[in-house]
Amino acid sequence: MSLTDTTLKEKYPAKAHCQRVAKYLTDRGLPSDAVIYLEAQKTRMVEDDDQADHFRQRRYFFYLSGCKVPDAYLVYNIPQNILTLFIPPIDPESVIWAGLPESKEEALAKYDVDDVLYTNEVNAALAAYGPRKTTSVYAIPEQVSEHITFLPFVGTELSSLREAIDECRVIKDTYEVALIRKANEISTLAHIEAQKAASTATNEEQLYGAFIGTCISNGAHEQAYHSICATGHSCATLHYIRNDQPLRNRLNVLLDAGAEYDCYCADITRTFPLSGTFTPESQTIYDLVKEMQESCFDMLYAGMNWEDVHENAHKVAIKGLLKAGILKGSEQELLEKRISTAFFPHGLGHYLGMDTHDTGGHANYEDPDPMFKYLRVRGQVPAGAVITVEPGIYFCRFIIEPVLEDPERAKYIVKEALDKYWDVGGVRIEDDVLIKDEKEGGWENLTDTPKL
Ligand code: GLY
Ligand code: MN
Repeated sequence: MSLTDTTLKEKYPAKAHCQRVAKYLTDRGLPSDAVIYLEAQKTRMVEDDDQADHFRQRRYFFYLSGCKVPDAYLVYNIPQNILTLFIPPIDPESVIWAGLPESKEEALAKYDVDDVLYTNEVNAALAAYGPRKTTSVYAIPEQVSEHITFLPFVGTELSSLREAIDECRVIKDTYEVALIRKANEISTLAHIEAQKAASTATNEEQLYGAFIGTCISNGAHEQAYHSICATGHSCATLHYIRNDQPLRNRLNVLLDAGAEYDCYCADITRTFPLSGTFTPESQTIYDLVKEMQESCFDMLYAGMNWEDVHENAHKVAIKGLLKAGILKGSEQELLEKRISTAFFPHGLGHYLGMDTHDTGGHANYEDPDPMFKYLRVRGQVPAGAVITVEPGIYFCRFIIEPVLEDPERAKYIVKEALDKYWDVGGVRIEDDVLIKDEKEGGWENLTDTPKL
């Protein structure tokens, strides 16, 4: 059995996450004589239908429970270090359709909790915790059901819990890294199958189907995000969603797809030629994007400034686009005028965890500087963070044509050279990287999907 699978035989470390979140709160002078209260995502019905909508567990709830059961609740008593999970009671009507749900005993054995009660016992349990003169309750304001009462508590702290969990989620523990590794392992199998399918496929749908089917057959029933199975000019659409176009007369495939495994994500992009061989222009751009990524890998360490790594990707892009003859001018001027953002418009990467674009990155989408506007992580990246490194170069008419119409910026672009590159579409290469402290060796690539 692999190290990952051995780790995942243990329970999801919900209690350790509760302790970490409680420490974050109390270190900031907030009440320690308190409980944390959270609700799972509710079962929601499809509009005008009698079926339940697709269920996705609330990430805040999962982080502190490891439990994917809908309509559940949790209470963590900070001073006593007691975590109680509340699961829906058995409803004989529903058993006929859906089978038996987990019993209290099964839940206690499966989750890292101290007690399991039924959801109709929540208010009584809260009342039992609350009557002391000092006890407060932490909750997320929009995530408290109407029938829940916090009246027994002297204080209700609704403004800190979301931030506390968002920040704690940045640093992954061994178990969380194992989940991301597992999502990566399955996604790699699926990328390989999708690439194999490309040799006979006639439509993007067959690549999409090969990817999703392989994930499910290998135990990942959910996707981390909607797969991007783009070909031809669509490779320049960053979040292309159609995945339904014929492959005739197209050069390249950009497959950005990742499985979700027990609520943790992989996010992987590979670009490859449909014919098996890149054209010279596609090869030039592929080699450049690979160089951007490798050069950024060389800069990774705990505490690095993510803006510096992102800027480095732009510097390598500028050098490469100059060498390809697409840009002209000095490297410094091209950087200062932000010309490379016309070809590399998005950020170098984002935190990855329970969400594909995970919490705690402090993006500034209002940044007037186009080079940093879409950078989803700002500032220093700590040891324990998992971050994507995903440079790209795109030939997107919606972005580049307005630049060609602006004489101040058009003077840096060689139109005749550029015209040879539109059919490349776009190239992105994306891996998921664990940042380690120096003693552990700096960083580790969790993605071993083959590259060209
Ligand atoms: N994989 C899609 C994204 O990172 O936005
Ligand atoms: Mn990504």
